[in-house]
Amino acid sequence: MPLDVVVGSQWGDEGKGRITDLLAAEADIVARFSGGDNAGHSVTVGDQLYKLHLVPSGIVHPHTTCMLGSGMVVNPVRLLEEMDYLEAHGVQISPQRLKISSAAHIITPAHIALDGAREAQRGEAGIGTTQRGIGPAYTDKATRNGIRAGSMVNPEEFADLVEKHTAAAAVMLEQVFHYEAPNPTEVARAFCEYAKRLQPYLSDVGAMIADALDQGKIVLAEGAQGALLDLDHGTYPFVTSSYPTTAGALMGLGVGPKHLRRIIGVAKSFQTRVGSGAFPTECEGDIAKHLRGTGDQPWDEFGTTTGRPRRCGWFDAVLLRYAVRLNSCTEMALTKLDILTGLDPIQICTAYQYAGKSHPDLPADPTHLAEFSAQYEATPGWDADITDARHWDDLPGAAQTYVQQIQELANTPISLISVGPERDQVIQSVNAA
Ligand code: GDP
Ligand code: IMO
Ligand code: MG
Repeated sequence: MPLDVVVGSQWGDEGKGRITDLLAAEADIVARFSGGDNAGHSVTVGDQLYKLHLVPSGIVHPHTTCMLGSGMVVNPVRLLEEMDYLEAHGVQISPQRLKISSAAHIITPAHIALDGAREAQRGEAGIGTTQRGIGPAYTDKATRNGIRAGSMVNPEEFADLVEKHTAAAAVMLEQVFHYEAPNPTEVARAFCEYAKRLQPYLSDVGAMIADALDQGKIVLAEGAQGALLDLDHGTYPFVTSSYPTTAGALMGLGVGPKHLRRIIGVAKSFQTRVGSGAFPTECEGDIAKHLRGTGDQPWDEFGTTTGRPRRCGWFDAVLLRYAVRLNSCTEMALTKLDILTGLDPIQICTAYQYAGKSHPDLPADPTHLAEFSAQYEATPGWDADITDARHWDDLPGAAQTYVQQIQELANTPISLISVGPERDQVIQSVNAA
């Protein structure tokens, strides 16, 4: 005991990496449980910005053990690049500190090519995936054609599996999609070398987490993506192919619910989305420009993984309530409050208009989101720079009111308010109840 979970409560990029880094100070183990390198988590410590895709954000704290859970899909070349990148930035990487679940699935160049081919085939109706091979890798897992990380214990046999998989995918790529397929022999040769390097990191992550919990250690599960991108409960089909929710954390780490303690839903102070799909509070023009930034600052709303400008809009409390319900959030962390400085008034979506009626909660499955329109309540903005605020009382009254409104609308306490990307730019206790 205990297991704490950090989950995204919007469409991803809520600042999960930043909040995980904060909580990792107290954790023994930090584990990712779903997704792959479609995630991009930024952590800022002083002058240093760490961009993480597969390795849990807790790695920046030297005392933690970090794990990649069975629910993940792992591209070995990306993982090795990230391990090298972290070492080059002074982060110690070793098999003692980093564990890969043998049950996690492998992403290959064929998966990436298939991701591109399927997106091209969808044309205008494309999902806007990160093109990291996520969907095809989870497809192979579900159809029981996948390659598990554990196969890397025998690099030659692993290479053989990869060669056969690449050759099978080539038939589909060339004959169905008329796409150029990766060369099976070359891919197999490269993957044999990756296996030799990654082999020492393979572990039974589920058993290690169970042991740690039994010993009273603190395990922190770091979500990727967000509730509205959940394969079952998000805005299908404009979702990812995994389960970025509390349930997904249990499944993707191989633990049961009895150890759960804190479930922290991370919400940005406004809404963003990358890729296609409905977005009821999306803004254009000056508001969107203000929220997105110009790209000059590392925290501006341009994707960490793809560099794509993120779509931006006002905070959506209807979706937040849904995410809180879906995840059983015990608390919320609100990020990027500083970005709202200078906007007056600020709008909050408090209900949806649908079929001539106002609905404070989602009137139907989020798949129908495009049919709902946002109903707003305006709240006053503030001009003062809040990036130096460290206590609730340091915030201007209008900022306090905004946070209180979100807390009331979510019916869940906000325990952390982030006013900048750096570790100490946070207000820990909110007297906003
Ligand atoms: P994640 O995918 O949920 O981990 O979020 P990302 O890292 O993709 O995007 C969040 C961005 O906002 C990163 O660049 C963070 O460094 C930055 N960030 C997080 N919290 C704050 C904050 O309170 N204020 C500002 N200005 N930036 C923040
Ligand atoms: P983090 O962990 C934001 C989105 C993609 C696309 C959809 C499907 O940084 O919050 P995929 O490549 O997963 O098949 O793409 O999901 N998406 C994300 N959007 N943040 C992420 O991760 C995302 N991971 C996937 O943009 O719309
Ligand atoms: Mg991100």
